[in-house]
Amino acid sequence: MSGVDPATWLLRRLDPETAHGLTIRALARVPLPAPPADDPILATRVGGLKLGNPLGLAAGLDKNAEALRGLSRLGFGFVECGSVTPQPQAGNPKPRLFRLPEDRAVINRMGFNNAGLDAFADRLAQRPSATVVGANLGANKDTEDRAADYVTGLRRLAGLADYFTVNISSPNTPGLRALQGRAALDDLLGRICEARSPGGAPVFLKIAPDLTPGEIGMIVEATLAHGINGLIVSNTTLDRPDSLRSARKTEAGGLSGAPLKARAMAALRAAAEAGAGRLPLIAVGGIDSGAEAYARIRAGAAAVQIYSALIYEGPGLVGRIKRDLAECLRRDGFSTVDEAIVAGPLTER
Ligand code: FNR
Repeated sequence: MSGVDPATWLLRRLDPETAHGLTIRALARVPLPAPPADDPILATRVGGLKLGNPLGLAAGLDKNAEALRGLSRLGFGFVECGSVTPQPQAGNPKPRLFRLPEDRAVINRMGFNNAGLDAFADRLAQRPSATVVGANLGANKDTEDRAADYVTGLRRLAGLADYFTVNISSPNTPGLRALQGRAALDDLLGRICEARSPGGAPVFLKIAPDLTPGEIGMIVEATLAHGINGLIVSNTTLDRPDSLRSARKTEAGGLSGAPLKARAMAALRAAAEAGAGRLPLIAVGGIDSGAEAYARIRAGAAAVQIYSALIYEGPGLVGRIKRDLAECLRRDGFSTVDEAIVAGPLTER
């Protein structure tokens, strides 16, 4: 069974979207025990959020906030659900989710399939209160005013989530990534800030890895100028590295998992350099071990998120990453995550 638990082994034998549906249903229904208490060295803060540990679940696994109770029991420091769009939408035709096992990667072109804001809000209203929950906001495919969709999401979910993510970096909604340009970004972030309730939940912006350092620097400045609380770096990539070996490597969509590691790290470094400690960063993309989580923290991330590695490693990965991360911190003489961020990048990788 190549070292994973039996459920993960079985799920990997099913069509990926069927496996995904089963996972969500199981997490929503099967009562799981509470996870062990977090090692105190892992306690941290990001953009005003207090976390028991810095390892979060990235958006896209629980698009409809259906399995928050089960997910909260896997040991994550925070769980991000969505992306949710104001109106329900079916997403792209199936198949639209592909495993690339030889590459420990995934390609998806889901296209924001979700049940819409009303269903999402009803589920969030019953969320477990002990877990930090983020709501990732998207825009409907056929909307004319994309910025208005994010504002609608923010208003409808006010008071229901601990933080919000404005996701302008999905490659599967045509034109969405254009919101990362300066004029569109200023309009979007200006309207988001107007719609926020004073003292309300932090708002993060999630960006693509397929941006130049100059573009990332511009986004960091715009983000700071509008009082956004942090940057999530990054979403999936449209790039197809030459190293890919799996049969499905030519499928259209966003690539995630191990082959995204270098690109997501480069984007994080560009954001850290431009932010110079002024803007909290959350790293995501190809993180699959405590050592990789630690490297992102040393590169400037206050917290990290995972998705694709869970598909290959199963839920036991959460505990392993936290244990190994705590070990890396102690080995290097740190007593908090913050001290490791301030110490700066690891030299050899
Ligand atoms: C995603 N991701 C994603 N991100 C987002 O902001 N909104 C979304 O709805 C989704 N949907 C989604 C579906 C699937 C099937 C995958 C694999 C990914 C992107 C995800 O949150 C993350 O940024 C990337 O997957 C990179 O991290 P990993 O997977 O390499 O750890």
